[in-house]
Amino acid sequence: MRKKITVVGAGNVGASCAQRLAERGYADVVLVDIVPSVPQGKALDIQEAAPVVGIDSLVTGVNSYEASADSDVVVITAGVPRKPGMSRDDLVTTNQNIVASITRDVLKHSPDCIIVAVTNPLDAMAHVILKESGFPRCRVVGMSGILDTARFRTFIALEFGVSVEDVQALVLGGHGDQMVPLPRIASVGGIPLPQLLPQETIDRLVQRAVKGGGEIVELLNTSAYYAPSAAAVQMVDAIALDKKRILPAAAYLEGEYGIEGVFLGVPVKLGAGGVEQIMQVELSPDEQEALKRSAAAVRELVEVTRKG
Ligand code: NAI
Ligand code: 2OP
Repeated sequence: MRKKITVVGAGNVGASCAQRLAERGYADVVLVDIVPSVPQGKALDIQEAAPVVGIDSLVTGVNSYEASADSDVVVITAGVPRKPGMSRDDLVTTNQNIVASITRDVLKHSPDCIIVAVTNPLDAMAHVILKESGFPRCRVVGMSGILDTARFRTFIALEFGVSVEDVQALVLGGHGDQMVPLPRIASVGGIPLPQLLPQETIDRLVQRAVKGGGEIVELLNTSAYYAPSAAAVQMVDAIALDKKRILPAAAYLEGEYGIEGVFLGVPVKLGAGGVEQIMQVELSPDEQEALKRSAAAVRELVEVTRKG
């Protein structure tokens, strides 16, 4: 029997996730949105590609959750982007209400699922989903680190003119300006980055990765979705196919890295059980300090959700 994956939010990220997932062929896909007929239209369009792509997955678009029953994985991308005049706190409160209500609906129909959070501000929204669901922490995970790391790997590969496959890197921390790239352990063909590039070049690549989301917004006037959907779907693959990948993702920390009670990007083992293990990287004092600052920034947003 095929797996069932539900994607909530049929906007740019959600629809791209649904397409990528359907085209893998191992799962049926349910696409949910509140806007009438849009998820139905997008799902049908994806479904009609199936004979060309050569997959038998069923893709269903809906405005309610019955069809999502017994999903193995649910990806939550629904939310609103920040609009002119809206403060960051307004955005947090609006999206918090959206993801909390979605979580309740998801739970009614798929009490055993694993939830991949995508909605921003990512780490705070993952926190809302965890608390609203009452799930154990292994069953709620946020997408951020794969995307932030992919951007860093892309810029390193472009700098060297080499295959991205030969570039390894790791970005930890919250999904925001306080993320923590670790160029010290980045490598090209196994050779550490600091042996290959002067510090000012490394700093430039790090800065471009940190500002990567903003660079796309400036170009597109909306936020990125091709790379984000690829990242979210890599997480779904790892969970639905029990691949036990080691990937950077937002996990709820309970003392790991000396941090307690917030979601933060760290390397995790992702498999059928969700976050099956949090991997500990030995950090320099500066890196540890940066991670603590990142956690403090996430904590501030979580405080806003408590008022909302
Ligand atoms: P979008 O505006 O294209 O799509 C959002 C969709 O959510 C819309 O179709 C809207 O109708 C739907 N929606 C709103 N309330 C809903 C509800 N209660 N139930 C079901 N659907 C609902 O936005 P886009 O570009 O797809 O981004 C989605 C979210 O993902 C945003 O919060 C964005 O900031 C975030 N994002 C996060 C990334 C990450 O790395 N974690 C990367 C890229 C985007
Ligand atoms: C990104 O990093 C906006 O979170 C989104 O592209």
